[in-house]
Amino acid sequence: MAAQPEPTDSPIALPVNLVLIGFMGSGKSSIGRILATKLGFHLLDTDALVVEAAGMQITDIFKWKGEEGFREYEANALAYLVDRNAKGAVVATGGGIVTRESNLPLLHRLGFVVQLTASEEVIFERVSRNKARPLLHTPNPRETVSELLSRRAPLYAAAADYTIDTSAKSHTQAADAIIAEAHRRYPR
Ligand code: S3P
Repeated sequence: MAAQPEPTDSPIALPVNLVLIGFMGSGKSSIGRILATKLGFHLLDTDALVVEAAGMQITDIFKWKGEEGFREYEANALAYLVDRNAKGAVVATGGGIVTRESNLPLLHRLGFVVQLTASEEVIFERVSRNKARPLLHTPNPRETVSELLSRRAPLYAAAADYTIDTSAKSHTQAADAIIAEAHRRYPR
């Protein structure tokens, strides 16, 4: 993995990892990048770990091993981060990580679990720009987004320590609000 700044370089020391959960297109990767830069944290990404472990892109994992195969890699990636006791990290997770119940305690062991939300319209607009999401390769992606969102909304809500709606915020505003909340919950 590429060299990252040491957590001790952080201008705003935060004694906890940030774990981002939420639907595809909710802004986990973009906001994760900003959070990592602001905090001097490592940015880790379960999707990237899965691609590395499988030696193929996510679309190919779904094609050759099915969604279950992908979930297995994803659960292993999460367990790996917990085992390795990652510190000073922002962890961006795949949108379906909450669908496996056994992942939930691991998310909490990893850090402060932040759910990013956005309106269905914003989500659909964002995911339409990127075709690399196999779950949306359906005849009617708009309907698929809608169905998956309503099925998953309670799972994200149950898993989250804190929820922030990113629809009407810039990514920087969202990152600042997350940092402020984390400082409130984890004072030094
Ligand atoms: C998925 C979300 C994707 C990726 C995979 C499955 C999901 O990650 O893990 O395509 O089930 O919602 P992003 O949320 O980063 O798009």
